[in-house]
Amino acid sequence: MIEKIAKLKDEALKKVISAEDEPQLEEIRISLLGKKGSVSSLMRGLGDMDITEKSRLGPVLNGLKNEIYASISQKKNELRKKSIDEKLSKEWIDVTQPAREGKSGSIHPVSQVTEEVIAIFSSLGFSVAEGPQIESDWYNFDALNIPAEHPARQEFDTFYVSRNDKSKQPSNVLRTHTSPVQIRYMESHDMPCRIIAPGRVYRSDYDQTHTPMFHQVEGLAIDENITMANLKWVLEEFCKAFFELNEVDLRFRSSHFPFTEPSAEVDIKCSWENGRLIVGEGEDWLEILGSGMVHPKVLNAAGVDPKKYQGFAFGMGIDRIAMLKYGIPDLRSFFENDLRWLRHYGFKATDIPSLHSGVSNTAIKSN
Ligand code: PHE
Repeated sequence: MIEKIAKLKDEALKKVISAEDEPQLEEIRISLLGKKGSVSSLMRGLGDMDITEKSRLGPVLNGLKNEIYASISQKKNELRKKSIDEKLSKEWIDVTQPAREGKSGSIHPVSQVTEEVIAIFSSLGFSVAEGPQIESDWYNFDALNIPAEHPARQEFDTFYVSRNDKSKQPSNVLRTHTSPVQIRYMESHDMPCRIIAPGRVYRSDYDQTHTPMFHQVEGLAIDENITMANLKWVLEEFCKAFFELNEVDLRFRSSHFPFTEPSAEVDIKCSWENGRLIVGEGEDWLEILGSGMVHPKVLNAAGVDPKKYQGFAFGMGIDRIAMLKYGIPDLRSFFENDLRWLRHYGFKATDIPSLHSGVSNTAIKSN
């Protein structure tokens, strides 16, 4: 019997060692230790033995079983390690390969330039104010010293929003400029103030430089001792930061707006090179905005005492300065939602304008 056991042990251990993979090893385990396995049937044989035989063979069989167990579990570990090694050698990853480029959206130039403008004026102490896009004719016109029969009303190509038939009040309008925000802000805040108001405005007009909806940013500074010199300095600082220039030549050109007195349009020096605009230097002048000292009638309409307070205001086209800075030729393309255009002129979400990095991260330098 002992010999038989020794032989079985020899064979069993050889089988275990020869297993090539885990499923095969499992088969071997079942053939030895499973219910009908050879070791198990030997164990069962113990029951029929007499007591001396049993006490002699019992420990031997148990030892056999344990040894086989141990060798199976050792083999199992080896096979597992081997299969992992094989996998690793087959399925390796080349970490030096360049990452696949993911598709990401981009920031529209109007949004980007609005953020640039806000970053610059924030650094000059201006906060951001907003107003509604559907405006009453009072805020859009009358309060800004443009009464009903004033010719300036015609100049604006206004969109009217009709009221309910029974209403006796004049039509609302889609605001034609951001200037109504001046009135709304002064009405509801104590002076002094320094604000900018960026947003959408509407005029019925359509060509290469006009679209029925476009964007403006209004500026307003009211205090007891404000002069046009303050206006000029603020605009110079703005232009330098926005166009990323060390110096900027800026001139006031006498003009007329009903809501400012005196009024001035502001031009900056520029030149053209092979059809490309260079801002900041040259012999030509480029108009960039309208401005002036807030008319006393406007202060009165907004409940501010013109004897105590005065200030400046300006209004600038956001799309227009975006076109100038980033060399975009056609305003209409801003609003056509052409993805190719957006990918070309758009900005990365991480290009957050800040003054310390130069407002735009993709600055078009003039020199
Ligand atoms: N509201 C004027 C326009 O839209 C611009 C402007 C604003 C001019 C403030 C002077 C002062 O044309």
